[in-house]
Amino acid sequence: MASSTLICDTEPWKNLRAHVEDIKKTHLRDLMSDTKRCQSMMVEFDGLLLDYSRQCATLETMDKLFKLAEAANLKQKIGRMYNGERINSTENRPVLHVALRAPRDSVIQSDGKNVVPDVWKVLDKIRVFSETVRSGSWVGATGKALTDVISVGIGGSFLGPLFVHTALQTDPEASKFAKGRQLRFLANVDPVDVARNITGLNPETTLVVVVSKTFTTAETMLNARTLREWISAALGPSAVAKHMVAVSTNLTLVEQFGIDPNNAFAFWDWVGGRYSVCSAVGVLPLSLQYGFSVVEKFLKGASSIDQHFYSAPFEKNIPVLLGLLSVWNVSFLGYPARAILPYSQALEKFAPHIQQVSMESNGKGVSIDGVPLPFEAGEIDFGEPGTNGQHSFYQLIHQGRVIPCDFIGVVKSQQPVYLKGEVVSNHDELMSNFFAQPDALAYGKTPEQLQNENVPQHLIPHKTFSGNRPSLSLLLPSLNAYNIGQLLAIYEHRIAVQGFVWGINSFDQWGVELGKSLASQVRKQLNAAQMKGKPVEGFNYSTTTLLKRYLEASSDIPSDPCTLLPQM
Ligand code: F6P
Repeated sequence: MASSTLICDTEPWKNLRAHVEDIKKTHLRDLMSDTKRCQSMMVEFDGLLLDYSRQCATLETMDKLFKLAEAANLKQKIGRMYNGERINSTENRPVLHVALRAPRDSVIQSDGKNVVPDVWKVLDKIRVFSETVRSGSWVGATGKALTDVISVGIGGSFLGPLFVHTALQTDPEASKFAKGRQLRFLANVDPVDVARNITGLNPETTLVVVVSKTFTTAETMLNARTLREWISAALGPSAVAKHMVAVSTNLTLVEQFGIDPNNAFAFWDWVGGRYSVCSAVGVLPLSLQYGFSVVEKFLKGASSIDQHFYSAPFEKNIPVLLGLLSVWNVSFLGYPARAILPYSQALEKFAPHIQQVSMESNGKGVSIDGVPLPFEAGEIDFGEPGTNGQHSFYQLIHQGRVIPCDFIGVVKSQQPVYLKGEVVSNHDELMSNFFAQPDALAYGKTPEQLQNENVPQHLIPHKTFSGNRPSLSLLLPSLNAYNIGQLLAIYEHRIAVQGFVWGINSFDQWGVELGKSLASQVRKQLNAAQMKGKPVEGFNYSTTTLLKRYLEASSDIPSDPCTLLPQM
């Protein structure tokens, strides 16, 4: 039975509630003119610079947020995570993704056992396997080297690796190592995604990596069976042994699927799906594409932030500051969304990854003890790289709803371009926007300014910008594998901080289950109707009507049930 105190019943929470009135009387235009305040809202660590001076917060707000952290036992909760305690109580699991990138000689215990040697055993296996494949020593069924990889997985077994792959693709060092190789991701069970993935690939030179923590996810398993068929149809069933490997915690199911357990790469229950990019889930496909040495740098970047998060005082702790400010924005200022705006095309898949990490972690309605929350937890994350977003949804951000923005910028471009005669380099052009947008949001533009510019009276309301819209800026020195690891870990820990403060379980995801079980009823109905002519029954009027329409009109089922693969 649920019993514990909710964070909203504590004094620090109530003090922050009362403090909202003080903040409502301020404007970022004024807050930004206080240099002392701004100075103390800059934090540097390991080449990164966080500037949170454009948050609607004063030093008093920060002080109150630190008190809230204390009331939430944030320090202790972080400690319990690193100590391998079973903090994911509804699944009775520790939460130890920090162990995935811990240095070889470190000690991280789970159930009295140091898990770091197990982690490195798998990493070493990946190093050897990926080198064997990349060097051409491991060949396919017809003796050809395997130059292309399709990673089959969804959710946490897809989004993190895709983000990192997209970010590394244009990194000069990583791209050199990837010459002549391709890495693709098959996630959606939509056959169109199968078609897109196999188009242009030759099964003779393709390695399929099936990535699934549970090895039961419906979409992934059907896609895995589809690619198994694609390989067998072209090369014969015995080719599967050479062309398919797996990443999973469920090695029994891997073997039952027909993949040699020697070609399976393990991870553990204490790695949450959305926190698994540093396990074999990400490390195997990325090492096949870029070589293990590049991926090791990525792990080192994440590990650097892990140490910072564990040991830095809260006033200088980047994930803690970010997490507390998000709680402030969501729970006190009432802003339910957050825009993630990297000024780097290489980070185009960062927001989709963070959507899962954040919304699957913190989109909860009850406390960790099962008490309904009288406040909203979690936020709606979305984003696009700047400047593309500027020409799309920024209108709403500037003059519509208030959405706290994360501006992420990079000092040195992965791919510098200079054109003779241009005023600035192409990267400078991009970054001019990165530096300008936060001020546009913070300061806005007043009717008086517009009048002084002789703007016609009837346009003044349309051209006025209220300003006072919070954002923060995170400046990375460059975007190499190390920095990508840092960025990942900052967001992972920030989201954990939010969950720890809200007092929820950020590491389970029961909310995805109901839809899955209803889909399985529909699957049974479709099969019964199509194969045995059974009528549609057991559904409400709406679903029955839709299903009947689908069954009457669907034409993609072959009349004889022979295997059909995409024809492109
Ligand atoms: O449906 C959500 C989810 O359970 C995620 O949490 C997970 O990342 C994804 O499915 C994939 O699961 P698996 O790796 O077990 O296939």
